[in-house]
Order: sequence, then C-alpha cells, then structure tokens
Amino acid sequence: MSDAPRAHQLIAPDVKLGRDVRIFGFVNLYGCEIGDETKIGSFVEIQKNARIGARCKISSHTFICEGVTVEDNVFIGHSVTFINDKYPCATNRNGELKTEEDWTCEATVVKRGASIGSGVTLLGGITVGENAIVGAGSVVTKDVPSNATVAGNPARLLNNQVPSINESPVLRS
Ligand SMILES: CC(C)(COP(=O)(O)OP(=O)(O)OC[C@H]1O[C@@H](n2cnc3c(N)ncnc32)[C@H](O)[C@@H]1OP(=O)(O)O)[C@@H](O)C(=O)NCCC(=O)NCCS
Repeated sequence: MSDAPRAHQLIAPDVKLGRDVRIFGFVNLYGCEIGDETKIGSFVEIQKNARIGARCKISSHTFICEGVTVEDNVFIGHSVTFINDKYPCATNRNGELKTEEDWTCEATVVKRGASIGSGVTLLGGITVGENAIVGAGSVVTKDVPSNATVAGNPARLLNNQVPSINESPVLRS
C-alpha cells in the first residue's frame, strides 16, 4: 500500500491488498480483495467476498457488498449502492435475527472498463458489460450490454443504441 494517511481507516487483517493501492480516510474494508493501483475514496465500505480489480477508482461514499466482482479499470462514482439481497429482512420466520442460512446472496459483476455514475443503485444478480456507462442516479434492474450507455429508473439504453447479440438487453427508451 502507498503512504496515504492511515488514520481513521478500518482495514481487517483478512483484506488482500494489491500493490500501490491508495485508500483514503474513513474507509471500512473486511474480507475483500483489492487489485493493484486501485484508489478507494473516503467513506467507502467493501464487504467480505467482494473483489475489486486493478486500476479501479471507487469514489467516496460508495457501498460494495458481498458477492460483487468489479473487474479491472472500472470507475465507480460517488454514493453508488450495490444490492445482494432481493427480499431483505431483519429476522427469520422464528423472529430470530437473520443468519447466513436465511438468505441467498445474488452476485453482481461489473466488467472491465465499465463506468458507474454517481448515485447509482444496482439490484443484485446484474452484469454490467465491458466499457458500459451507467448514468448518474440510475437504478439498474437488468443486465447492461457491453459498450452501452444506460440511464434512468429503471435504467434504459440511451441514444437509440441497439444491444449486441447474445446479451440480455435493458429495454430501449
Ligand atoms: C449517462 C451519460 C454518460 C449520458 O451522457 P451523453 O451520452 O452525453 O447524453 P446527453 O447528455 O446527450 O443526454 C441524452 C439524453 O439522456 C438524458 N440523460 C443523460 N444523463 C441522464 C441520467 N443520468 N439520467 C437520466 N437521463 C439522463 C438526457 O436528459 C437526454 O435526454 P433527452 O434526449 O430526452 O433530452 C451522462 O449524462 C451521465 O450521467 N454520466 C455520469 C456522470 C457521473 O456520474 N460522474 C461521476 C463522477 S463526477
């Protein structure tokens, strides 16, 4: 890791940090993996079993949950929220606090070179294709094709783009 200030950071011993990772203040990381030269802004939380590639930029106030894979060269804007539990609840049917056995983690992948705008929410089980762009403030409910630009709630293709063959398209606006 670089010589970035280490005050007010919680980086658990089980975090795997690559070379020259830069981490700013008030960051909380546990059980995750961060690739070489990636930058992580202030107030970011990254949970266990999340993987961030090399040369990514994760902007401040973003939450990356368990089950998320971010490939290399990805930009994640400010206050981006990933979701991995479609039907969240505090307790199980017995009224006891929910445990690992009481829910299914829905994995999400953001492929190489994609950019996720600020304030985006991504539902679980989503794939954002290579070099795709998700507009600021969008809610992503379906896979985003490679090289596409999507925006809105729910996110839809912008500029009359045509999705590539073999990719699950978001609806055109
Ligand atoms: C999605 C984005 C890349 C589109 O840029 P663009 O291709 O130049 O698109 P335009 O600005 O020409 O807008 C095209 C249309 O999409 C709409 N649009 C653009 N961005 C939008 C957004 N985030 N949400 C909803 N609609 C959006 C525009 O209003 C316009 O609609 P219209 O044709 O009805 O007038 C850009 O607007 C964006 O949101 N970028 C992310 C910025 C960001 O979060 N940066 C993070 C760090 S600062």
